[in-house]
Amino acid sequence: MKVLVTGGAGFIGSNTVDLLISEGYEVVVIDDLSTGKKEYINREAIFYRASILDELNDIIKKEEIDCVLHMGAQVQVRKSLEDPVFDSQVNILGSINLIENCLDVEKFVYASSGGAIYGEPEYLPVDEEHPVKPLSPYGVSKFAVENYLHSFSKTYGLKYVSLRYGNVYGPRQDPYGEAGVVAIFAKRMLDGNRPKINGDGNQTRDFVYVKDVAKANLMAIEKKVSSQAFNIGTGRETSVNEIFNTIRSILGKNITPIYGPPIKGEVYRICLDIKKAKKKLGWRPEIGLENGIRELLEYLTS
Ligand SMILES: NC(=O)c1ccc[n+]([C@@H]2O[C@H](COP(=O)([O-])OP(=O)(O)OC[C@H]3O[C@@H](n4cnc5c(N)ncnc54)[C@H](O)[C@@H]3O)[C@@H](O)[C@H]2O)c1
Repeated sequence: MKVLVTGGAGFIGSNTVDLLISEGYEVVVIDDLSTGKKEYINREAIFYRASILDELNDIIKKEEIDCVLHMGAQVQVRKSLEDPVFDSQVNILGSINLIENCLDVEKFVYASSGGAIYGEPEYLPVDEEHPVKPLSPYGVSKFAVENYLHSFSKTYGLKYVSLRYGNVYGPRQDPYGEAGVVAIFAKRMLDGNRPKINGDGNQTRDFVYVKDVAKANLMAIEKKVSSQAFNIGTGRETSVNEIFNTIRSILGKNITPIYGPPIKGEVYRICLDIKKAKKKLGWRPEIGLENGIRELLEYLTS
């Protein structure tokens, strides 16, 4: 079985490629390396440095792709607010371009966002039936592609699964970026610096470990489910202050955070109901927050 992974040089993509290869899959990576790193790409994968906006027909035909895991994207909420045109070009037009070239694959798995599409929750935990009212252009673009997939499944019989990830954290997360609070805090505290908390720190997220997400991606390919969306998180609400305190207590450092203004376009509280993924995908998260943070700290210091 040959799987095309877009964004396979990125944080979640490269962890997923490693898992797929260890499970015996052949993997083709398409990534423009705009945020991904070539050194993260597993050496056994076939790599094309290309954009999802490029003419992709030749690659898809030549490689005889069986399944697609689409993770290549503009991933920053802040960037989507500053430049919604760019966000929609990459995330919407790039995705449509890719999907159009992959209508004959056995399964198309799409990395959507449970944190960005629902908007400020009407109830918690948020299940897949919760109204979708994204606050940011990024959330709009992520959900737009879910709708395109639905349309292509109705019109062309495309078999797809949308996975709505929570806040993913773990090794290879960019510790210098604007998003990815766990890696950013961990790196700053390891270096003896005070992390900046946007807002009061009581905002909550559903933090899920990257290797658990990689497993969900694999199961979405393997299980006989299609044309639906699944939340992929832990079902647990964790505040940003709790993340800070957990890292501080593992490191045993006496550091205090700096508080700044909240970021526009981000929800205050969220956590995801994952009953559907448990029941239909047979997936459940296996790595708890403290162990996941310990693994991330080990990675950052190795
Ligand atoms: N990190 C999270 O918490 C999270 C949560 C929900 C959803 N997601 C989704 O998961 C996917 C992976 O995110 P990530 O956190 O690993 O981010 P990332 O930035 O590490 O990975 C994105 C990858 O896509 C590549 N890319 C960007 N534009 C491209 C283009 N035009 N053509 C080809 N490749 C391109 C980048 O170079 C990078 O390797 C994204 O679709 C993102 O929206 C992430």
